[in-house]
Amino acid sequence: MPTKDTVTLIDNRTGKEIELDLLKPTSGPMTIDISSLYKELGYFTYDPGFMATASCWSNITYLDGGKGVLEYRGYPIEQLAEESTFLETCYLLLNGELPNKNELAEFEGSINKHCMLHEQLKTFYSGFRRDAHPMATMVGVVGALSAFYHDDEDVHDESDRMDAAHRLIAKMPTMAAWSYRYAMGMPFVQPRNDLGYSENFLHMMFSMPSEEYKVDPIMAKALDVILILHADHEQNASTSTVRLAGSSQANPFAVLSAGIASLWGPAHGGANEAVIQMLTDINESGRPLSEFIDRAKDKEDRFRLMGFGHRVYKNYDPRAKIIREICHEMLENNPVSDPKHQALLDTAMELEKIALEDDYFKSRNLYPNVDFYSGIIFLGMGIPLNMFTVLFALGRTVGWVSQWNEMMGDPKAKIGRPRQLYTGEATRDYKGIDKR
Ligand code: SDX
Repeated sequence: MPTKDTVTLIDNRTGKEIELDLLKPTSGPMTIDISSLYKELGYFTYDPGFMATASCWSNITYLDGGKGVLEYRGYPIEQLAEESTFLETCYLLLNGELPNKNELAEFEGSINKHCMLHEQLKTFYSGFRRDAHPMATMVGVVGALSAFYHDDEDVHDESDRMDAAHRLIAKMPTMAAWSYRYAMGMPFVQPRNDLGYSENFLHMMFSMPSEEYKVDPIMAKALDVILILHADHEQNASTSTVRLAGSSQANPFAVLSAGIASLWGPAHGGANEAVIQMLTDINESGRPLSEFIDRAKDKEDRFRLMGFGHRVYKNYDPRAKIIREICHEMLENNPVSDPKHQALLDTAMELEKIALEDDYFKSRNLYPNVDFYSGIIFLGMGIPLNMFTVLFALGRTVGWVSQWNEMMGDPKAKIGRPRQLYTGEATRDYKGIDKR
């Protein structure tokens, strides 16, 4: 009889029977350890898109898609969004515990110390066309940071890893704001240490040397909460990209650039921009909303409702619930002045209503996700459309570096190297060109 939690696998081809260990998590499904399967039975497992595959162990973020639960280091996202600040949440994700007053002050001091960019990094921007998408600029400039800090890049050294993590968290707002300023042909604005993290970003985005600029505290607070909501999300596509790229012991700045590239896709972080694009297309088409709902259901049509559905959440995305409240509160405080924006918002609310009542969406658990509302809020905040995913990257940087640091700190960490189900040609001999 098995002495601990195991599953028995019987190979009906050979009659061979093996025991596989069941790994018990703190929360979530029991997980079958299949690492011995190939050695014992000579089989691979097949799970395209990793729908039911745990790629790693992690202590950082837990989410339950069925219950709509999201926790950072055990703390519910609802409490962090209500009580914490983004930098305090960064400390929690990176270090595993909430900081005391001194630890928070020291961490904020370190972030302030690293928020400026090397003067030579400015020239990387001038290599881009002014109409380059800011995510293209971010992929390039964040990757370019790997050409600096050579004296401090031993990925096996915990303090070097923390330096890289602090530098990335600190420099992302500056690099992001400068991506926007460059696209607009406006002068770069330096960060200020007397401002909070989100305030500083808005200052670098919108202040002008020609006049006094005061950051709207409501906008800064809304942005800080939105960054908390976007900070980490278990092994999503961009975080898995960071882990796989980092597993080869690559430079952390180059690894983060890979994560930004993955996040850019409209099926992932690019969805917030795609939501507004979709709402604009709907409004400009003059066609009834029902036509787009039908298209979203049509398997022959590539059209999907951007901002709806999620690989894991088969209930309401808990972040969407929080961000929906921010969205409605912000719109009450700052009614949308631009009639075009109001029309987008009206379409969004109608779409949400229809989708929540329609059997096709309900039966597939397709609820509005975090990207559905963040796009609307960013619009209301005057953030340009092509900066929406940059703000997602701003929030997710701490999740990426925390997961990267956790992996690199594991003495058993191996290079990620998945296998495949080969479906190509069987072995065949080369034929000379005169025989083809
Ligand atoms: C993020 O992983 C993360 O954690 C990501 C993220 C994070 O914080 O890192 O949460 C951030 O990326 C949120 C998701 C943002 N993307 C979008 O809003 C794009 C629109 N959503 C879809 O592309 C889709 O829902 C995904 C990519 C999000 C999830 O796709 P899955 O899990 O692969 O689901 P699926 O494609 O297998 O869909 C299941 C069914 C299918 O229909 P059937 O084949 O069962 O008949 O639902 C349908 C799909 O056709 N479907 C949709 C739909 N999403 C899924 N139908 C219409 N509109 C949609 N948006």
